[in-house]
Amino acid sequence: MYHHQVRFIITNSFSSPHQPSPAMAVHPPHPSSTKQQPFFHNETQPKENIFITTHPISFFGVPLVNLNTRISNLELSNPTMLASGIMDEDAGSIQRIIDLGAGAIVTKSIGLIPREGYPNPTIVELEYGLLNAMGLPNPGIDHYGKELQQITKSKTPIIGSIYGSNASEFVTLGKKMEEYGVKAIELNLSCPHAKGYGLEIGSDPNLMQEIIKGVKNSVSIPVFVKLSPNVTSITDLAQAAEKAGADAIVAINTVKAMKIDPEIRMPVLANKTGGYSGKAIKPIGVRCVYDIAKNVQIPIIGVGGITTASDTLEYIMAGACAVQIGTAFYSEGLEVFRTICTDLESWMKHHHVKTLTDLIGVAHQ
Ligand code: DHB
Repeated sequence: MYHHQVRFIITNSFSSPHQPSPAMAVHPPHPSSTKQQPFFHNETQPKENIFITTHPISFFGVPLVNLNTRISNLELSNPTMLASGIMDEDAGSIQRIIDLGAGAIVTKSIGLIPREGYPNPTIVELEYGLLNAMGLPNPGIDHYGKELQQITKSKTPIIGSIYGSNASEFVTLGKKMEEYGVKAIELNLSCPHAKGYGLEIGSDPNLMQEIIKGVKNSVSIPVFVKLSPNVTSITDLAQAAEKAGADAIVAINTVKAMKIDPEIRMPVLANKTGGYSGKAIKPIGVRCVYDIAKNVQIPIIGVGGITTASDTLEYIMAGACAVQIGTAFYSEGLEVFRTICTDLESWMKHHHVKTLTDLIGVAHQ
């Protein structure tokens, strides 16, 4: 009975150093990767027969459609980015995701000093996504910098995610990230459950603006701001971030949520509440991106429940210029970046769209 509701509990590898690698790293490939594929890989029935043999997506190796996109001064070869917090713990895991075709990588959120995170259980798989409260486990910026220096020469842009409790911590972290070679900074102003960090400071527009201005004045790379949906108006915060000089908005972080197991009469997560990610939150993310896009001029990166090319198109049509993928890497397996890109190319070819960026915001017309 327990397993009808709670399929897997995944643990925090930082707080349990004697455990082997985290379960996410050993998840088997999704069975759909061995079946004949429909138009989009989440559909059980093909809509139309438009496979590569009937609609080629390249001609002598030259792509017939263009997936390139741009966020501020970053050029991405495709719009799929690895979201912060999954498979981005060290240079080796980041290299793996680059090899799997991601257009850019966002690092784990890194603070000034090492932090163990919350005790286990820290992640639980629910029906339509993952509920997690890891507690910002990370080795601290100086140690993580050694990993970054091995990887930031990559052609695939690496974006450094940072968290702090005040503007001066963010400034120190931003400068160090730039020294280690990241191509942009992502300010985590939205983690939904860390006391004194994330959402607790990111929901105060004045403090948020002080942090953005401080970091912008201290680095020469673009600064992105990741916002939470757990606020009265994410659009007001996005406008405040734009006014303070942010170069892009990342929307959304996880949705604050909890799971109680009736058999043990207790919350499942040690932290009791956590952040919900995955398919269930996609409509929330699309709505946020759509509303933000109506009110800001800076680029938006969509995140929340993106699993397929169809999901990616929804976010792009709502106004995003790129998307971040996290939970789908766990649920769909290693091929998710390539599958999304291949399906985007097929869709574009079929609909006579040569350039992906032509689709940004078209749902507003
Ligand atoms: C964690 C959760 C988040 O939603 C986030 O943005 C960063 C870190 C965490 O629990 O570690």
